[in-house]
Amino acid sequence: MKNFTYYNPVKLVFGKGTIAQLPTLIPQNARILMTYGQGSIKRNGVYEQVIRALRGYSIEEFSGIEPNPRYETLMKAVEVCRTTNIDFLLAVGGGSVLDGTKFIAAAVHYTTGDPWDFLSKGLKPRSALPLGCVLTLPATGSEMNIYAVISRDSTKEKYGFGSPLLYPQFSILDPETTFTLPPRQTANGIVDAFVHVMEQYMTYPIGALTQDHLAEAIILSLIEDGPKALSEPTNYTVRANIMWSATMALNGLIGCGVPQDWTTHAIGHELTAFYGLDHGQTLAIVMPAVWKHQKRAKEEKLALFARRVWQYDGSNAADVAIQRTEEFFRSLGVNTRLHEYGCDDRYFDEIVQRFELRNERLGEHQSIGANEVKEILELCK
Ligand code: NZQ
Ligand code: ZN
Repeated sequence: MKNFTYYNPVKLVFGKGTIAQLPTLIPQNARILMTYGQGSIKRNGVYEQVIRALRGYSIEEFSGIEPNPRYETLMKAVEVCRTTNIDFLLAVGGGSVLDGTKFIAAAVHYTTGDPWDFLSKGLKPRSALPLGCVLTLPATGSEMNIYAVISRDSTKEKYGFGSPLLYPQFSILDPETTFTLPPRQTANGIVDAFVHVMEQYMTYPIGALTQDHLAEAIILSLIEDGPKALSEPTNYTVRANIMWSATMALNGLIGCGVPQDWTTHAIGHELTAFYGLDHGQTLAIVMPAVWKHQKRAKEEKLALFARRVWQYDGSNAADVAIQRTEEFFRSLGVNTRLHEYGCDDRYFDEIVQRFELRNERLGEHQSIGANEVKEILELCK
């Protein structure tokens, strides 16, 4: 096992009716900016629950944060924070609202340059506004991690950044808020959580038993209850399992001391930037392609995965693992090839060029450069 430091200060409040606990989590004298998306929280009663819980607080609102939150929109919220002396951010929504709010938190204090520098130049924030979260979509793990992924419309770019300053102070996870998720978002979320686990698991064995078994436990829960979340959208137990699995998938725990991949996410972000595909859709397309391309390097873990998760102990275990995983995604209604979304290879050259320019090496062995990205993209068609 590699050396590691694990630090996660997020207070996680989980369960039915927990939005009512907001006043115990935010200081009474806070000047709050409540951020949200494009209206789902107004339709499913979450907005009302938050407003009711925070009666007596000083609250401004900023709505309209898009899926794949845009820099252009978020900078407007930064302006609101600066002009109205906001000192606490409350994100209410899915990963996009939360990520967007993390960006706002860091950007408000960065007045000497363009906050896009956090994304494009790897600049680290020196301070940030405190933030809290009411999560309505289990998927990203953003509620319990330091990362945010932001898109820039004008340049078709999508990058992530992170800082311990961006841990939410608290995250409220009420599975009932997820009853209203459209099947597409439920399925995207399950795929996202699944792939987060795999980015930290599907590498090479180093004998990290606890991390491996924890990762498999999360995957088994997603496989068992994922389809039920689609067929029984108001089943509380099922929604609770999916919500906790998604948080556990990317709160740092299973990644402690193990090699990590993240190739699928890096290529997936480019597919969203160029083709406008949902994050979960890009992962369902790219991960099987990465595994096929890297079959030799990942062979031992693919076989372990086939045995422990898919109960397959025969020959060609790596192929079977890839095939079963793809079948699982498809059973959720998430297609696994670009052409099934009506996308062709028109942006492949531009995407490959980006990896070339950034001189990026991806994967647990840093063995994936621009040429390999091109080969993987071909397998996505
Ligand atoms: O905008 P509203 O109206 O709220 O609607 C949203 C949005 O249209 C809707 N929705 C959310 N909760 C709902 C609901 N509809 C009905 N009922 C509810 N309870 O769902 C749509 C998608 O929401 P979004 O927040 O975009 O989805 P998700 O949580 O999957 O977030 C995706 C974003 O997170 C980034 C992705 O790249 C993408 O930009 N990621 C963030 C990560 C992180 N911070 O650690 C890691 C991930 O790998 C990922 O990259
Ligand atoms: Zn993801």
